[in-house]
Amino acid sequence: MAIRANRPSVQALQPSLIRKLSNTAIGRSDVIPLWFGEPDKPTPQFIRQAAKDALDEGQTYYQPNLGIIELRRALAAYMNGLYEADLCAGNIAVTPSGMTALAIALQCIVAEGDAVVIPSPVWPNLPAAAEILGAETVRVPLRPRCGRWRLDLAELFAACKKHTSALLINSPNNPTGWMLDDAEQQLILDFCRERDLWLIADEVYSRIVYDRVYAPSFIDKVTEDDKYLIVNSFSKSWAMTGWRLGWLTAPKSLIESLEIVSEFNFSCIFAPVQIAGITALQDGEAFIRASTARYRAVLEAVKSAFNELPRVTFPAPQAAFYAFFAVDGVADSYAFAEQVLRECGVGLAPGAAFGPQGEGYLRLCFAADAPLLERALEQMRPLLS
Ligand SMILES: Cc1ncc(COP(=O)(O)O)c(C=O)c1O
Repeated sequence: MAIRANRPSVQALQPSLIRKLSNTAIGRSDVIPLWFGEPDKPTPQFIRQAAKDALDEGQTYYQPNLGIIELRRALAAYMNGLYEADLCAGNIAVTPSGMTALAIALQCIVAEGDAVVIPSPVWPNLPAAAEILGAETVRVPLRPRCGRWRLDLAELFAACKKHTSALLINSPNNPTGWMLDDAEQQLILDFCRERDLWLIADEVYSRIVYDRVYAPSFIDKVTEDDKYLIVNSFSKSWAMTGWRLGWLTAPKSLIESLEIVSEFNFSCIFAPVQIAGITALQDGEAFIRASTARYRAVLEAVKSAFNELPRVTFPAPQAAFYAFFAVDGVADSYAFAEQVLRECGVGLAPGAAFGPQGEGYLRLCFAADAPLLERALEQMRPLLS
C-alpha cells in the first residue's frame, strides 16, 4: 500500500517538471545542462573564506531567529545605499533561502480559502508556497508584445476579488525576464493600499538587470504603514545558491510575527553562512557587476543565434539570466524538451513548468560560458530550424 501525505493541499501539489525531466538524465555526462537557474561559477573565494574563518573560530552555536544583528544591519545599509530607503535592522528577517522567505511570508498572512493573485508564467514555487497553505492561486498572464513581456495592470486588478488577500509579484521574473517599471509599481502599491491587500514582492533577481544597475523595487516606495513583504536572496547575485541564505524586508511591526514563525520553521541559520553574507554585501559589488556584464554579453550571443532561426520567437529579457523562447509548431513543451535532450544533448526547462501561460515555451539558463552556450545552440540548431 502506498502511504501518502494526509493534507489535501500537499496531495494536490504536482512535482516540478524541470526535476522530472532532469532526473531522466542522471548519470549522463554528455548533456549540456541549461535547465536549472543558477550561476555556473562557484561562490567567489573571498566569500568562501569568510565562512571558513568563522567555522575555524568555532561559530557553531544556535543564533537569533531573525539572523545575527550585524547581518541585519548590513542588509539595511546595503538596501539604503542602493535605493532611496530608510531601513534599519528592525525591518529585516534573515532566512535560510529566498524560498523559505517566501514560505514564511505566506505563512504569516495567507489563510485557507484566501486567493493569491500571481502574474504568470512564474517560478512554480511561488504558487506552490501559497497552495500548500490551502490558498487558491489566480494567475494573470504576462504576454509578449512588441518583443517584450508585459503585464496588463487592469487585468491584474480585475483578478482581485473579495477573498483575495495578497498580490504575489515576481519582478524581475523567472522565467521571462520581464520586470515592472517604477510607475507600474506605484500603481500596484496604490491599488493594494486602496483595497487593503498584502503585497508580496519577490525581488530575487533585482541585481541581474541589463540596462541599469538594479531593477525597480518596491523597497523605495513602501512605508511603515504598508502591508508588504519583500523577498530577496543571496543565491543569484552573489552566486550562493547552495548556501541557503535569503532575507525578508517588512514593516517593523510585522517583524515580531516573522520572528515567531521563523522559530517554528527553522529556528536559526548557521553563523558561518551569515558571516559569508556580510562579506558578500560589503565586498561583493564588483562581483555583481562583472557577472552581470558577462551574462549581458552571452545574452547578446543568444539573441543573434535565435534571430537566425525564423521558427524561434524570443521576447528579450530585461533582467535575470533566462532565455524564454517559443518554437513555432511546438504545443507540448515537455515533449519538445525531452526531444531536445534526446536528440541534441541539451537540457532545457519546459515552459509548462511555469504554469499554463508558459506552455509552448522553453527556458534556457544562459549563466554559462560563451563557448558552452555556442555549442548548445549549435547542437539544437537542427531541431529549431
Ligand atoms: C523567482 C525566484 N524566487 C526565489 C527563488 C529562491 O531562491 P533561493 O531559495 O535559492 O534563495 C528563486 C530560485 O530559483 C527564483 O527563481
